[in-house]
Amino acid sequence: MIQASAKNINVWYGDFLALKEINMSFEPNSVTALIGPSGCGKSTFLRLFNRMNDLISNFKLEGKITVNDKDIYAKDVKIDEIRKSIGMVFQKPNPFPKSIYENVAYGLRVNGVNDRRTLDETVERSLKQAALWDEVKDNLKKSAMSISGGQQQRLCIARALAVEPSLILMDEPASALDPISTAKIEELIFELKKEFTIIIVTHNLQQAGRISDYTGFFYLGELIEHDKTQKMFLNPSQERTQNYITGRFG
Ligand SMILES: Nc1ncnc2c1ncn2[C@@H]1O[C@H](COP(=O)(O)OP(=O)(O)O)[C@@H](O)[C@H]1O
Ligand SMILES: [Mg+2]
Repeated sequence: MIQASAKNINVWYGDFLALKEINMSFEPNSVTALIGPSGCGKSTFLRLFNRMNDLISNFKLEGKITVNDKDIYAKDVKIDEIRKSIGMVFQKPNPFPKSIYENVAYGLRVNGVNDRRTLDETVERSLKQAALWDEVKDNLKKSAMSISGGQQQRLCIARALAVEPSLILMDEPASALDPISTAKIEELIFELKKEFTIIIVTHNLQQAGRISDYTGFFYLGELIEHDKTQKMFLNPSQERTQNYITGRFG
């Protein structure tokens, strides 16, 4: 089974070809790490899966992106629906200036859910899944801006989980965090894949090695190699992958 896929993808920003003939698919309940030097197209690729690039004026896409076998760029697809069903977590935690509770409840509220019990249950479940519940359960009314950066990032993960997304996209979610918070996020990702499918951009190769089942190595807009993480790190097929993971460039 395939949860999401990219077929014959080319992406341009104006005249600049940022992604070249990318083919990649993602199994359910797997973690795939996207690695490669800065500017090679990892974030561009990730953003295809929730149509975030659509917001960029000179962006052009060729090819097909599917999530749950559905072409998410088909004419009848509502972009709002896509953004609601696919969670995204960014490099810098970006909680809303609202309470912890309202941050997590947000996705349900914009979907028109106002039933207190449903909201309470979803907030609790999501905070538990994000390994934050024990730390905040007595302070749900507290502002999200007042908790630590690491807690804010787990809150953003809880917010993404609340709408039970098919796919979770993470763009360097731990790169702004201290080592302890980073370790917590890594453990969390490991737990989350029991229920979700995760694509994560990371510039940290050790992290990719620790948390992912599959790794894709991007270089200058091309997917050079995509394989099981163990295979990629121990015995890559491509010389460019070997050079990158052994630190010869990047
Ligand atoms: N909004 C944009 N307009 C023009 N070029 C862009 C835009 N976003 C990214 N790019 C270019 O596309 C390439 C890939 O960028 P990006 O996907 O951010 O790479 P990565 O995440 O691997 O660092 C880079 O050359 C970058 O300068
Ligand atoms: Mg990036």
